[in-house]
Amino acid sequence: MMSKIRTFLKVKIVNRLMARYYSFQGYNIAVSAKISTKAHLDKTNPKGVHIGENTVITPGVHILTHDYVRGDGTFSDTHIGNNVFIGINSIIIAGITIADNIIVGAGSVVTKDFLESYCIIGGNPAKVIKSNVNIGINGQIKKD
Ligand SMILES: CC(C)(COP(=O)(O)OP(=O)(O)OC[C@H]1O[C@@H](n2cnc3c(N)ncnc32)[C@H](O)[C@@H]1OP(=O)(O)O)[C@@H](O)C(=O)NCCC(=O)NCCS
Repeated sequence: MMSKIRTFLKVKIVNRLMARYYSFQGYNIAVSAKISTKAHLDKTNPKGVHIGENTVITPGVHILTHDYVRGDGTFSDTHIGNNVFIGINSIIIAGITIADNIIVGAGSVVTKDFLESYCIIGGNPAKVIKSNVNIGINGQIKKD
């Protein structure tokens, strides 16, 4: 019972407060997004991080907006759509766009844009694992 209450408070309150905290720091994050306290959003270019409505960023995820190996192109914007679920310990490389209603499998490295909604991607480098998946709010798979 206590662990259910803890999880409820964490998901409904703490993770949403994190979204507001990040917005205050200049990140472009929808207030309905749920950002784990253990996620890592790039601090070198906060304005470059864009996260949509009801998107879930789980622990250990890194969302990058800079890449020093690129010289002049060091900073670039990274766009995560609405209802995206990013699995634990995934890395989103700077400048990437992930469309709405996509699940990123645990431990993925996303190195290119994924512009088609309703799919599951995963691996290093991430590739489409499944297409035409009924993905709804918070990036959860809807039962038919
Ligand atoms: C991706 C995921 C949603 C599974 O989706 P699914 O549609 O049920 O996928 P399946 O289990 O049917 O696997 C389909 C294929 O994808 C592969 N796959 C599954 N998860 C993967 C991942 N994270 N990375 C790479 N490949 C993955 C499977 O090995 C399988 O490959 P195969 O067809 O060669 O055998 C799940 O594995 C996952 O990563 N969930 C996120 C968990 C998480 O991070 N939770 C956060 C807790 S805070």
